[in-house]
Order: sequence, then C-alpha cells, then structure tokens
Amino acid sequence: MLTNNATDSQDSVQAGYRAIRQASLDLCVPLENEDFGLQAMPETSPPKWHLAHTTWFFETFVLKPFAAGYRTFHPRYEYLFNSYYNGVGAQYPRSRRGLLSRPTVREVLDYRAAVDTAMIRLLEQADHADRETILQRSILGLHHEQQHQELLCTDIKYSLSFNPLYPALGKPAAVKPAPVRRAVNFLEFSPGDTQMGYAGRGFHFDNEAPAHTRHLPGFRFADRLVTNAEYLAFMREGGYENPEPWLADGWIWRQENAAEHPRYWVSQDGAWFEYTLCGLIPLDPDLPVSHVNYYEADAYARWCGRRLPAEQEWEAVCRRLEPAPAHHAIALHPRAAAYDGGITQMFGSLWQWTRSAYSPYPGYRPAAGAIGEYNGKFMCNQMVLRGSSCVTPPGHARPSYRNFFYPKDQWQFSGIRLADDL
Ligand SMILES: [Fe+2]
Repeated sequence: MLTNNATDSQDSVQAGYRAIRQASLDLCVPLENEDFGLQAMPETSPPKWHLAHTTWFFETFVLKPFAAGYRTFHPRYEYLFNSYYNGVGAQYPRSRRGLLSRPTVREVLDYRAAVDTAMIRLLEQADHADRETILQRSILGLHHEQQHQELLCTDIKYSLSFNPLYPALGKPAAVKPAPVRRAVNFLEFSPGDTQMGYAGRGFHFDNEAPAHTRHLPGFRFADRLVTNAEYLAFMREGGYENPEPWLADGWIWRQENAAEHPRYWVSQDGAWFEYTLCGLIPLDPDLPVSHVNYYEADAYARWCGRRLPAEQEWEAVCRRLEPAPAHHAIALHPRAAAYDGGITQMFGSLWQWTRSAYSPYPGYRPAAGAIGEYNGKFMCNQMVLRGSSCVTPPGHARPSYRNFFYPKDQWQFSGIRLADDL
C-alpha cells in the first residue's frame, strides 16, 4: 500500500495508482446507471462527478504541467470538474452537478481510461527532470481519490435515502458479534504535555503539520462510542424538545429543520428502523449512533453532563493507548463495539466530532499556488472530526488525521465520543 511521499519508489506509486483508481470503479459496481447522476443537496456530488473530478485532479496537477505533448481530453471538462480551485479557473456551480446528464457515464469512464494511460506512461519515465514533483503530486492525487471514495459512499447514501424503496448496495455482515452490554467506562488521563501533528516521513496532509507540543489538563475519555440505545434514551426523555442542552445555533438548526432524530432513522408502526447502505434495517441498540451532526453530538453530551473531546485529547489518547490503526476492509455500516477492556472504536467505525474548531496549527503555511487551496482555505466555521469510519479507505487512519465538516452536517459517517474534565 502506498503510504509515503518521501521514499515511495516509482514502482510502488505505479502499483498504487492502478489499485486505487480501480478501487473507485469497484465501489460503483452495485450502482445502476440511473444512480450515477443523483445529487440530493448541494453539498453532495453525483457518483459520476466524483469519478470525473478525481481524474481532472491528475490531469490538471500532473499531466498538464509535466507530460510533454499531453492534449487535454475535453476543453470544457476543466470547467465542469474543477471543484473549488480558484487558482485554476472558474467552476461549474456545485449545486447543479446533478444536471450534468452529459458527459455520460460511458464518456466519463473513457476520460478516466485516457488519463490513466497518460499517467502510467508518465510514471514510467524514470529519467524525467521533474520526477520527484510528479511522484509527490501523484501520491497526493491518490490520497485525494481515496477521500472521494469515502465521499462517494456518503453522498450516494444521502441521495438514495430519499427513495422509499430504500435501495441497498450490499448485504450486512454475515456474522454479527455478540456485544456485551455494559455502561460506558471513562478512562482518566492526568495533565501533561502531548505531541500533536504528524512528525514522520510518510504521507500526511498539510493540515496535520507542523508537529508541535501541547499541554493538556487532566481529562476523562469514554472507552467506546455512544450507542443507538443510549441516544434513543435521550430522545425519549425529550432531547429534541428541550432547548436546555442545545447550543443556540443548534436549537435554531433543530427548529428550522424540524429535526427529531438522527438523519437516517425511520419510524414505522411504532418501531425504529435505520437506513443503511445495506437497505432499511431494524434499529440495532448496540450499534454506535451514526449520522448525527455537531449540534446533536454536543447536545447529547451536555444532556449526559459530559462534553465532546478536544481534538488534542483525542490524539493524545490515540498516541498513548491505541496501537497503530490496522488496515480494515470497507464495510457498509459500523459494527458494535468489541469490548476488550481498552479504548475501542477509535478507527474504522465512525468519525468522532470534537469540540475543536478547524484551525491551522502553529506555523502552518499552505503550499504556493492552486494546490495550496486543498485544505487551508477551509479553516473557518468548521469542526474537527477524528478517527475514521467504516467507509474510510485503507491508509486514511492515523492519530494525526484531521477531518472537518460544518456543525450542521449529518451525512458523513459521524458519531459521538464522550469526554469530561478530570
Ligand atoms: Fe476533490
């Protein structure tokens, strides 16, 4: 697996390129042709657009500047598939991506194939004068593609959730672990200095650096995520009717959207169900509550008399207790916590809201040029989520990884980890 931008060989980049590009296509195998254009809200993009945009990234940042004699696949694709890079040029409105019936799925696949051929040819040029930059940008493009693989899952789930047929893209895991039900445990961490950010030689996004030291007061940290059963208790005790635990913005969001339950919960004949990528299933009390936004997570924590962890606390716990995250296969829905006496569900289950605003680390400087727009310009009004989810591709789980979304956003695989002051 491709992990390192400083030492990866040309061969491993080539192998990673083929595998990761193919993984995007594999994700789309369960889709019907009619699914490829769905866009249910401006924040989500159709699967077809994800396939084309990730291709545009390689064409724009690798092929155009470095592949001698490369001819753009289509003169208007830059306008259609540039997401937000103002340094590159104007963009087709994000909210109208679902109107792009053309190019067709077939034409987008042809676009991918043409760019792949040119990319492999370029990656084979061992004596290219800009080889290091080509490799580094290719690796960035592959991590970018993997981020879009997760977005493809979250976006198509949101779009399909509006269909009363509740389409399924796969089957639930055949074997369900038998959870041992018990109250959440809070582990205590004494005050002290902790290392923050990425300090190794492997790939990391610019928002994970520079590494630095932070002093943390003592805190308590929950050993698992909040379950559906626990969140249901919050609802049954008036959680969505009582403004007391809600932030002001959160209560306005709740009122304006008439929110009464997590995004994909469905009430039928007095019973709760949950829409998943495996279709509509009875609400499982032991699974972690998913697709809650920051406002809901914060209100739940306050209702419990607790709080959400700071991102520094989350990373400190991860560094002290959690072994390096193992690569896990993508699953369509998170599983129940496996109680082993330690901290569980840090990775591979749900992204965990923190109470930390997404802001630059001390000394952070985005790269020059359009590529510097990747992360830095979003450091305003968003909250950090830590960990990884069941649909996060391998290689995107590490203690320093910072995900970020707006407080109102529910469509990501996001859950709740509780913390408290010591
Ligand atoms: Fe992108």
